[in-house]
Amino acid sequence: MRLQAVLYRLVRPLIFTLDAERAHRLTIAALRVLKPRLPQPTDPVLGIRVAGIDFPNPIGLAAGFDKDGEVFEQMLGFGFGFVEVGTLTPRPQSGNSRPRLFRLEEDRAVINRMGFNNGGLARLEARRTARRPPLREVEFKLRELEFKLSGRKPGWVGFNIGANKDSSDRVADYVEAVSRIGPCATYIAINVSSPNTPGLRALQDKGALDELLAAVVEARGDEGPPLFLKVAPDLEPGDVDNIVEVSLRRRLDALIVSNTTVSRPALRSRFAAEAGGLSGRPLKSLALERLRDFRKASGGEIPLVAVGGIESGTDAYERIRAGASLVQLYTALVYEGPGLARRIARELKALLLRDGFARLDEAVGSAAP
Ligand code: FNR
Repeated sequence: MRLQAVLYRLVRPLIFTLDAERAHRLTIAALRVLKPRLPQPTDPVLGIRVAGIDFPNPIGLAAGFDKDGEVFEQMLGFGFGFVEVGTLTPRPQSGNSRPRLFRLEEDRAVINRMGFNNGGLARLEARRTARRPPLREVEFKLRELEFKLSGRKPGWVGFNIGANKDSSDRVADYVEAVSRIGPCATYIAINVSSPNTPGLRALQDKGALDELLAAVVEARGDEGPPLFLKVAPDLEPGDVDNIVEVSLRRRLDALIVSNTTVSRPALRSRFAAEAGGLSGRPLKSLALERLRDFRKASGGEIPLVAVGGIESGTDAYERIRAGASLVQLYTALVYEGPGLARRIARELKALLLRDGFARLDEAVGSAAP
């Protein structure tokens, strides 16, 4: 076991004595004072091009961890190939009342009903334009230069956007977010799948989705970033077909499968009956099943990003063989600590080479019917 994993095993019991949300806030605060480290160089085996973007490796941090874009540089430094910031809504909102985040330790799971608590777009914009202290500025310029000279990719930041809970025009919220965030995003993820904003998931219905996607594609324009759509795992086969049809028609760049589930497989934790979205190990089989449905319905016509219960190189490899070009995770990080992205990258590379794949993209969909 690597040093980072051993250290995390030691401090984890201490972190777990804290209420889950407080532990998360403390983690973000600790990360903020940490000096961002240089991201990992692109691995020739694990690097992959998706939607025109060259990802240094396929392992991403899922939305919800860094809602306000406070620590993405630090997380890229831990070996993630990309970080999805958000969900961000145009206006700040405080989310649901607490407690709203629960660790289901016996199940290696989390239930959350945060409700898009975030500082809004203005705060993100202010942070992005704030000047760093002069020494840090010099350091960052040197880093940029180093990447340019070496041809290495520094990892990427996608922004996940949603509508304000009290919005009278939800489509307008997405359009506003795309227009304002577009210029600084590697990609934008349209989130229509959070179970914690009443009515939001109805935007996955065929007519509503078509109207929404038409509007955001127009707002993105010719110069804007690729658009990804993040869907729920709780869908019927007909829903999957409709989402694929509309996404292809509107020329979306990728589908992210999936968000948390409102279903409740057998759970042991005393928090099992809490309302909200379930993530982590109990979501694994459902998210994989849905990924396979989307692959089947799309026939590989649109790239897929797999999320839900991924906690090892074996899990990542299974999703990739089922048709995913990229993977993301969040809950396993709570249980495994910051060395997880690097461990998955190591394991995934070994599995690819074992099976005779020289490059990741050769394995994408290799087990799909
Ligand atoms: C999330 N997730 C999430 N997704 C999203 O699109 N916007 C968000 O704001 C959030 N917020 C959020 C908070 C918390 C506490 C958790 C645990 C999760 C969902 C997340 O991105 C991912 O889709 C699921 O958690 C499934 O992946 P894991 O956690 O099983 O790896």
